[in-house]
Amino acid sequence: MNRPRRHNRSRRGSEGRDEKKSGGYRRHDGFFRRARDQGFAARSVFKLEEIQQRVELLRQGQRLLDLGCAPGSWLQLAAQIVGRGGRVIGVDVDPVEVPLPPWVTVLRGDVAAIEPGQLVAAAGGRFDGLLSDLAPHTSGVRHADQARSLALVERALEIAAAAVADGGFFVAKIFDGGDVPALIARLRLAAREVRTLRPRATRSHSKEIYLVATGWRTSAGMAQIDCRSAQK
Ligand SMILES: C[S@@+](CC[C@H](N)C(=O)[O-])C[C@H]1O[C@@H](n2cnc3c(N)ncnc32)[C@H](O)[C@@H]1O
Repeated sequence: MNRPRRHNRSRRGSEGRDEKKSGGYRRHDGFFRRARDQGFAARSVFKLEEIQQRVELLRQGQRLLDLGCAPGSWLQLAAQIVGRGGRVIGVDVDPVEVPLPPWVTVLRGDVAAIEPGQLVAAAGGRFDGLLSDLAPHTSGVRHADQARSLALVERALEIAAAAVADGGFFVAKIFDGGDVPALIARLRLAAREVRTLRPRATRSHSKEIYLVATGWRTSAGMAQIDCRSAQK
């Protein structure tokens, strides 16, 4: 990885909302220090880096959508890879304060309210891939946190159905739980291949995994990938 320009680290910590809750883990671990030393906004960058090493999704010139993009480490890495001929659109309720190149645009807002058409217009066309590192505020109540995480993935899927190009990819973080197999079955209707990954930079106590779907089918709209279709 090339080093991005140095910046002042975000006040919210190195890994967005997850990092603010420091109970039970070493806050400043090796990934944290490496991210800081290399000028990345969060240790999360090493999760995307590992996904990229294993599946090679991101390429020069792509249009990418990054949901839940603050404090901005995935934007930094994605911007490096797509280069100036590419386009990266990020969305978050929180601000992104790291310096980013002009081919990156950050829209501040809730993914529940944002119009997929607005995102496609900002990028100049459908996306080659959607990355979602969206994470809910956690309550510590496992089922409630899983349900919130699932709702965010559902929204990411809705946006993907309207905004990802044929043959594109979909990557989304989810808190692992009983709903994941049904979600994977639904994703299989929308994409050629679906796998799950748990990058090494994931905190040992964390339940999060990443769903990685490739070969997106624009013909599979939300009607095709809803629960009832998957259960037939
Ligand atoms: C783990 S952080 C993302 C870290 C990011 N990938 C990075 O590398 O810097 C999760 C983000 O999801 C955002 N988020 C959670 N719910 C959201 C929502 N409904 N709309 C927009 N952003 C949301 C949070 O504000 C938080 O910044």
